[in-house]
Amino acid sequence: MAEIGTDIQKAVDELNRGNVVAVPTETVYGLAGNAFDVTAVAKIFEVKRRPSFDPLIVHIASYDCLDSVVRRIPEPARILAQALWPGPLTLVLPKADEIPELVTSGLSTVAVRVPDHPLTAKLLATLSFPLACPSANPFGYISPTSAQHVADQLGEAINYILDGGSCKVGIESTIVGFEDGQAVIYRPGGVPVESIEHLIGKTSMKSMSDSPLAPGMLKSHYSPSKSLILGNISELLDQYGHEQVGVLSFSRYFEQLDHGYQIQLSPTGNLTEAAQNLFASLRKLDSMNIRYIFAETVPEQGLGIAINNRLKRAAGGNAQINVRKECS
Ligand code: TXA
Ligand code: MG
Repeated sequence: MAEIGTDIQKAVDELNRGNVVAVPTETVYGLAGNAFDVTAVAKIFEVKRRPSFDPLIVHIASYDCLDSVVRRIPEPARILAQALWPGPLTLVLPKADEIPELVTSGLSTVAVRVPDHPLTAKLLATLSFPLACPSANPFGYISPTSAQHVADQLGEAINYILDGGSCKVGIESTIVGFEDGQAVIYRPGGVPVESIEHLIGKTSMKSMSDSPLAPGMLKSHYSPSKSLILGNISELLDQYGHEQVGVLSFSRYFEQLDHGYQIQLSPTGNLTEAAQNLFASLRKLDSMNIRYIFAETVPEQGLGIAINNRLKRAAGGNAQINVRKECS
């Protein structure tokens, strides 16, 4: 069983040995390995049971390290990185030869970011290589936002989990690529699209698709094992009844259902708080003795766009209302 602790040197030793270690970031916990070492990268795929067509994000210590992993930095990427790193922004850029093809699933681009967490910042500054680091969950399941979440699912497969407390953002990074000089949002996340557009102007969103070329946009992802149905919660309660039902609402409480089976993402209706609580709440509901999780979308603005994106993907085909068809 993995040891949980705050000993950076232990994590350094494991990584230098070519092993994988779970590390905290401001978004979610990641499963890290030496990005230049194909064997370490292969371990990441194996532990996560991740298909090799789904590329990994490379984590670097600072903007100054970007040249070691990418070939070219377009001007809008430079502006975004300088304004928003360290932080929940991932840039997709032409990859340097040193990055193994396994990391990028054969793509000519690499996804890269500078995480904003003191422990992992120190870890990266100590290491002589960048870290390939996807979210530390089994492929397709809810991302972890605490060390315990990682231990619950990957504890048998790894030796060490660096414990940095609960993730302050709670939702994965926003992924931005550049196609024909135009910024494209591949995944809405911890940096609101509005903040990106404020810096570099209009962006476009890639629609969700099942295309293996853009696996991060798979429609069904972040899935709890219970059936999550996204819609109008009152109507769902009327339609399905209250037996074996749990509710995940934005801020409302439903009188008709036992209080123990309800979680409000933010009782005050705050989207930052809702993002922080999202994945832990889904896990909590998933562990209850219920059959269905009824959930509703949050306001489609700021972090709400990323929250709704995760809820829709957690619902897979079970969305009963038309929230935006785009990548929201
Ligand atoms: O906040 C985060 O980004 C977290 C923390 C640990 O940093 N990491 C994370 O990694 O969410 P992961 O592997 O769960 O999601 C990364 C997504 C994948 O869905 C992958 O398809 C996409 O990034 N991706 C990676 N490289 C790409 C590339 N070259 N082009 C397009 N998408 C890429
Ligand atoms: Mg993930």
